[in-house]
Amino acid sequence: MRKKLVAGNWKMNGSLAENAALLAAIKPALAGIEAVVCVPFPYLAQAQASLAGSSIAWGAQNLSEQDKGAFTGEVSAAMLLDFGSKYVIVGHSERRSLYGESDALVASKYMVAQAAGLIPILCVGESLQERESGVTEAVVARQLDAVIDAAGVGSLANAVVAYEPVWAIGTGKTASPEQAQAVHAFIRGKIAALDSGVANHLVIQYGGSVKASNAAELMAQPDIDGGLIGGASLVAEEFVAICRAAAK
Ligand code: 13P
Repeated sequence: MRKKLVAGNWKMNGSLAENAALLAAIKPALAGIEAVVCVPFPYLAQAQASLAGSSIAWGAQNLSEQDKGAFTGEVSAAMLLDFGSKYVIVGHSERRSLYGESDALVASKYMVAQAAGLIPILCVGESLQERESGVTEAVVARQLDAVIDAAGVGSLANAVVAYEPVWAIGTGKTASPEQAQAVHAFIRGKIAALDSGVANHLVIQYGGSVKASNAAELMAQPDIDGGLIGGASLVAEEFVAICRAAAK
C-alpha cells in the first residue's frame, strides 16, 4: 500500500510567537504520524529546533535554481539543507502565476532540489478558465512533461506530486472527491504508461481548500495519497485532524 502524506504550506504567514504555539500544539498530537510543514525561509531554524526528532518533517516553499552567487534575494537548496529541510515545494500555482515561473524554471528547481537531496513537492493544476474550456488534462500533462522530459520519469521515485486546481486554492471551493480522483487517476495513469513501478509508489497529494470536514472523503479516494494544505495548516486542530484522517 502507498503511504499517505499530508504537508502544510504555511505560505507567507506566521510569526515566531504564532509558530511556537502552532508547532507546540501539532507535535504531540501527531506523534508517530508522518507529516510535513513547509514554512517561510526565516522560520526554518525554528521548525528545526522544534520538530527535530519528531515524526513531522519540515521544508520550504520555494528554492533557487542556482547553486550560489549573485542572485539577490534567492535561497539555495544547500541553505535549506543547512536547516534540516527534507522537502521543498516547487511550482506552486502562486509562484507560477504571481512570479512568472515557467514550466522550464519549475523543472530546473525540481532537479536542483533532488540533486541536493531534497524531496520536491511538485505542484500542478489548472485554472478555472482552463477547467471550463476542457483542457485540465492537457495542462496537467504539460506541467508534468516539463519535469519528466528534463529529469526522467525515474526521478518521480524521489518526489511527491500535488494536484492543486487553482480555482480551489484559498477559495473555499474544494474539488469534489470525484473531480479530484479523476485528475489523480489521470496523473498516475500517465506516469504508469512510462513506468508502472514509479506510478504505483508515487504519493499524489490533493490541495485546494482541504479542511478537517472534507479530508476523510478526499483521502478515501484510491489515487489521493494525502494533501497539501494551505489555510487549514495554520490551525492546529484542523491540521491535526486532516493528518489523522489521512493516516486512517
Ligand atoms: P488552501 O488549503 O488554503 O486552499 O491552499 C491550498 C494550497 O495552495 C496549498 O499549497
